[in-house]
Amino acid sequence: MSKNSKIVIVSNRLPVHRVKRNRSYAWETSPGGLVAALKPILRQQPNTWVGWAGYPGAAPKPFEQEGIFNWPVPLSKDEVENFYEGFSNRTLWPLYHDAVRPPEYRRRWWWPYVHVNRRFAETAAEVVARNGTVWVHDYHLQLAPAMIRQLRPDVRIGFFLHIPFPPQELFAQMPWRRRVLEGLLGSDVIGFQTRLGAQNFVRLCRRFTDAHGTRDALEFNGQVTKAAAYPISVDVRRFEELAESPQVIRRCEEFREKLGASRKIILGVDRLDYTKGIDIRFRAYQELLRSGKASLDQCVLVQVAIPSRERVDAYRELKAVVEQYVGEINGEFAELGRPPVHYLHRSLSAEELVALYRAADVMLVTPFRDGMNLVAKEYVATKTDNSGVLVLSEFAGSAKELTSALLVNPHDIDGLESTLQTALNMPRSEQSRRMRAMRRVVKRNDVFNWANTFFEDLSA
Ligand code: F6P
Repeated sequence: MSKNSKIVIVSNRLPVHRVKRNRSYAWETSPGGLVAALKPILRQQPNTWVGWAGYPGAAPKPFEQEGIFNWPVPLSKDEVENFYEGFSNRTLWPLYHDAVRPPEYRRRWWWPYVHVNRRFAETAAEVVARNGTVWVHDYHLQLAPAMIRQLRPDVRIGFFLHIPFPPQELFAQMPWRRRVLEGLLGSDVIGFQTRLGAQNFVRLCRRFTDAHGTRDALEFNGQVTKAAAYPISVDVRRFEELAESPQVIRRCEEFREKLGASRKIILGVDRLDYTKGIDIRFRAYQELLRSGKASLDQCVLVQVAIPSRERVDAYRELKAVVEQYVGEINGEFAELGRPPVHYLHRSLSAEELVALYRAADVMLVTPFRDGMNLVAKEYVATKTDNSGVLVLSEFAGSAKELTSALLVNPHDIDGLESTLQTALNMPRSEQSRRMRAMRRVVKRNDVFNWANTFFEDLSA
């Protein structure tokens, strides 16, 4: 196993997940652009990916899968509760997403966060080669960069935050704010999804730590950190290829036929998370149908809600609210065999997902706050014929790049309702003009470009 890794990736979850086949378990590579983007870079050199295997208890032995060396870190049942569900997902997650649910500050969750970060840092420090590179990912592991720096001052350390970095007045609430900032300051380069995130970080460091300087050179403890925006993206070619494959085209036609060939398909695809604005989108659709400005003959809404963090109360509550909307809208407007809402509470295969994107006339992406939102970029990548309308929340990181989408404020239900109506009636020529512009943007900065740019800056 690769103890002398030139490059080490550290993230809460490994890039693989365990699946049960017959009576034994096997590993499968998880879907998503991050793994795809890093694979070509990792395969060129001795590498290790340090992460949690996704279930509590002892960690399995390190193993190789598709050219990546996975080094599982164990989390006990208590750590899953306190580090993952508690501090990561009940303190940091809501705080970093504009406090759309109240963040909970519990001292009994902080220490598990410190201990688990140390375990990840020690593992990375153990496997990285002399003068190697460690790239830490996301909000679960913000203390790890400084811990790694202390153990291995010879290595380059990068950090990328996949979610938003909050403004001063919110971040300042957190009792452990200085510890978190100093943890991040152990990095040589810190990547954020937007420039605003990088700005928030620099201002907070100046206010709550002894760091001084600018975004390009923030000095702390005799070390210089660069904080910048690296907007993450998707594997555009893969989506294009899938979208044009015969089986996806066939599946797309089946969907269109089943849903009613003459009806416009409105699509939502999200993890079932309260930041995504799924409830608000149902509300706008319900009001549109009630107003008579759209009817069951003209449109249908398909919502894919991928189960997520199901042991956390706020997620269970959201599920109940969403399912109540589905029931209400279908109860009020359905005809036999023809519901206005199709609700799928599960994950879909990449082929099914791309077939749905291809079939969708209108894509609704309405988060209250989102680091980037890759669903928006996936939809654009899939629309090789330049058809379709993207309705996008101005509070998603992707709105900074996809400026030709129909941008909405998800808190404004009337605005959302009228934008949905505009989207349903948009002429093909305007769809095409907007989609072309958005496709240029995602093609210029795909996920490979994102990873390469970050690595270049990290090795500079
Ligand atoms: O968007 C942040 C993120 O942590 C992603 O990296 C991840 O894919 C997603 O949320 C799901 O998170 P979890 O690991 O909690 O299932």
